[in-house]
Amino acid sequence: MFEDLKAPEADKILRLMAMFAADPRPGKVDLGVGVYRDPQGQTPVMEAVRRAETIIAARQRTKSYVGLAGDPAFADALRRLILGDAVPAERVATCATPGGTGAVRQALEMVQRITPDATIWVPTPTWVNHHAIIDHLGQKSRAYRYYDAADGTLDREGMLADLAQARAGDIVLLHGCCHNPTGADLQPDDWRAVGDVLEQTGAIPFIDIAYLGFADGLEADAFGTRHLAERLSEVLIAASCSKNFGLYRERVGLCMAITSGPGPRAAAAGLMAHLNRQSYAFPPDHGARVVQVILDDRELRGMWEDELSLMRETMNTNRAAFAEALRAETGSDRFGFLAGQRGMFSLIGATPAQVETLREDHGIYVVGDGRLNVAGLTKDTIPGVARAVARVLG
Ligand code: LMR
Repeated sequence: MFEDLKAPEADKILRLMAMFAADPRPGKVDLGVGVYRDPQGQTPVMEAVRRAETIIAARQRTKSYVGLAGDPAFADALRRLILGDAVPAERVATCATPGGTGAVRQALEMVQRITPDATIWVPTPTWVNHHAIIDHLGQKSRAYRYYDAADGTLDREGMLADLAQARAGDIVLLHGCCHNPTGADLQPDDWRAVGDVLEQTGAIPFIDIAYLGFADGLEADAFGTRHLAERLSEVLIAASCSKNFGLYRERVGLCMAITSGPGPRAAAAGLMAHLNRQSYAFPPDHGARVVQVILDDRELRGMWEDELSLMRETMNTNRAAFAEALRAETGSDRFGFLAGQRGMFSLIGATPAQVETLREDHGIYVVGDGRLNVAGLTKDTIPGVARAVARVLG
């Protein structure tokens, strides 16, 4: 059975992780996979998480199954964090998933079940795994313009013109905040304009929100998701707690479907639970429970919000310092856009050959499309990385 098998190639992020792990050079710098690092270069367990785990260890009396959709208290807490009061709970079907990727997969599987002919509109560029999952499910997709590489900003006109071609029932994939890989986000006016196009076309937004709290704060980062939730009768959402709770390996995600009312909500919830059953039966519980304990405890929540703010400030400080170091190295404002973008990622505009030179000659690991994780920089590494980028990108 496996004699003639050719293993599928790992994607560019996973390949880079493996190359970095195999590199023996002590001064190597990992600016690849999306993992937050503090100013000391560590990815620590958040203190609020540690405390919640202590509480859970003391209180938990069983590890028996919870339910196909996970713990409703977790779903409720995360729904409220993301959606606030934008939409009544009776309209929102939820299902815990293994990580945000699990939620993306569940949402797209639902689409495939219900409307197999729908086209999934995908921003150019987007997270590599979005394409991989859509292709794996055999769904139709179309690219829409999103990013203006010349000045590092949103291509608003291109995006709106392309999305105007969507048909009723098509799915429009949007990044809730901290666009991966560009760091170029929709501003409130852009979200309003997207809402207009969605209303006109009848296409359904699918919001992947994996970095809530990493851009400008919990409320500001939820604006776009809440805005569309308030305006439209149907919205799909894939949420992740990997980054903002630092729970990467625990795999904490939530798939949400905003529906027109209680009947469709019950049907969507039933389909989600069914899809969980077919894939892995019960979703993981530990990380989800940690999130729920934190969000529902005033003191722990305050502690988590403070830690999250610190992470956000570190990333934004790194952005400003890196842009400044590049300005000094290049004598130009060519990389000035880095300071204004948000989240972990930006595209530095490197060709694949330049990415290779950065890796081979300087031990600096960025993803093949030139995506750089600003959260991987520290005060100590910024000058060397800026020098290398300026030299290699000429
Ligand atoms: C990334 O984009 O680097 C992260 O979301 C990790 C991943 O799974 O690719």
